[in-house]
Amino acid sequence: MAMGVFDSGVGGLSIHHALVSRLPQADFIYLADQKHTPYGDRSGEEIVELTKQGCETLFEAGASLVVLACNTASAVALRRLQQTWLSGFRKTYKRPVNVLGIIVPTIEAATGLPWEHEAERRGEKIEKLDIVGVFATVATARSRVYEIEIDKRRQDIAVFTEACSGLADMIEKGADRDSLSAKIKGHVESLRIRVGRYPDRAILGCTHYELVADLFREHLPAGTPIIHQPPSVAKAMGDYVERHTQYDIGSSGARTFLTTGTPGSQSGLIEAFWGSPLTFNAVSSDKAA
Ligand code: DGL
Repeated sequence: MAMGVFDSGVGGLSIHHALVSRLPQADFIYLADQKHTPYGDRSGEEIVELTKQGCETLFEAGASLVVLACNTASAVALRRLQQTWLSGFRKTYKRPVNVLGIIVPTIEAATGLPWEHEAERRGEKIEKLDIVGVFATVATARSRVYEIEIDKRRQDIAVFTEACSGLADMIEKGADRDSLSAKIKGHVESLRIRVGRYPDRAILGCTHYELVADLFREHLPAGTPIIHQPPSVAKAMGDYVERHTQYDIGSSGARTFLTTGTPGSQSGLIEAFWGSPLTFNAVSSDKAA
């Protein structure tokens, strides 16, 4: 049995990398739905359907827990899967299975509060001084998940999400650094103009963006804290598996990389991030439909 890690493409490798450091003995199966990437410009229904298929593929490959290493899938599909599909699906399996997202640990990191904490609304005017800028896909921005969940907990934080249409796809395709840098600079500037100033903190709210986090660093004012998802997610998932021992995630340290797209090696950008060659295998063709 194993821990499954799912993304529309290679962005989730940023989360996978941190999960492996936190749980080195566990067996991991990474699935990139490269046949359907990018998810960020798709409709909600498509994202739900594709995420469901990805989870099924991972469960059938032996995963007990699936981490949606994708903000778009976590924001748009996770709740629907948990409410409508997962309980029925569980009946077909003899072993306990579950799907977890990456937004909860990110909100906890941004607010400094546990997820269960909801602020008391006193009705008094609060000066919102702490501006958090979220860089995300169009679908994540449309969901307003970061605005809604942070506002429930910390009314002194104002959240502005910048939809970076096309950026995840450029990263997925291994675009050159100059084009990526120009694109990221444009989004940082667009957020600044909309807010009236640079954000006090930034969330890289798409796992692909972690692969070029240094370019966000370069274009944000020096010293702006960036909330990186991989360490928060890895800590939360590590704590979760310690508390929920019913999920068997293996113990032989096996690593499997699957794609619904073209198998083989990935772009230079991905290899530079990963630090060594990385080969993806094809999922069986009936599953890639
Ligand atoms: N890496 C994903 C995310 O975190 C998806 C990007 C995409 O497919 O558009 O949002």
